[in-house]
Amino acid sequence: MMKKLIAGNWKMNGSLAANDKLLKDILAGLGQQASCQIAVGVPAVYLAQCQALLAGTKIDLASQDISTHEVGAYTGEISGAMLMDFGVRYAIVGHSERRQYHGETDEVVALKAQRALGCGITPIVCVGETLAEREAGQTDEVVKRQLAAVIHANGHCISEVVVAYEPVWAIGTGKTATPEMAQQVHAVLRAQLKAASEHADRIKLLYGGSMNAANAASLLAQPDIDGGLIGGAALKAQDFLTIIAATA
Ligand code: 13P
Repeated sequence: MMKKLIAGNWKMNGSLAANDKLLKDILAGLGQQASCQIAVGVPAVYLAQCQALLAGTKIDLASQDISTHEVGAYTGEISGAMLMDFGVRYAIVGHSERRQYHGETDEVVALKAQRALGCGITPIVCVGETLAEREAGQTDEVVKRQLAAVIHANGHCISEVVVAYEPVWAIGTGKTATPEMAQQVHAVLRAQLKAASEHADRIKLLYGGSMNAANAASLLAQPDIDGGLIGGAALKAQDFLTIIAATA
């Protein structure tokens, strides 16, 4: 069976001191038994610090973004090659906060996924509907459109991506999709991936949006939920460890 993936997305949180304590507490609590794959998505300025803290451990490093460009005059951007210099294994792309606050379109997100794959980084592609879209009955249509752009741009490499379904209305709100609601959308995404790739069964589909220590087990028990992308609860060592333990 495929190993689940629990990925933290720290967003714009942390400090040298806080990161040091958080990662040391998680590593101490993890011990030998990690039944799943684990990653933390840290702010770019802390990649070097976290790379050093995580060297030789079971926790992989993720970035929260990647440039669409490879090199050159793009002030403020960070390329895939630069991320590789710091041992980054995953890049979160198309998070709803980047779509919403930085105008990232489906095409930009698809190109970012392509750039990541091009340098051997696994993109964690985020899709998800807003509350208005859900209420208008457009959930399936929206997530399929978002994923279709990534499939179109990446051809057979699509089997190498991780997809995260994050309903926008569930992010940071304490409102979680019920396991049944999440499973329903995951099944839609799995079917779309199956039509695009004969290896769709090995593509991890994560759920994100107010996943926490209390609700993780029931979400992770769904047949098409292969892990979680965790915001707030990834900033608390004990909560993150409980979510990791819920994959067992
Ligand atoms: P929360 O877990 O804080 O709702 O955030 C989810 C998320 O956006 C992870 O990328």
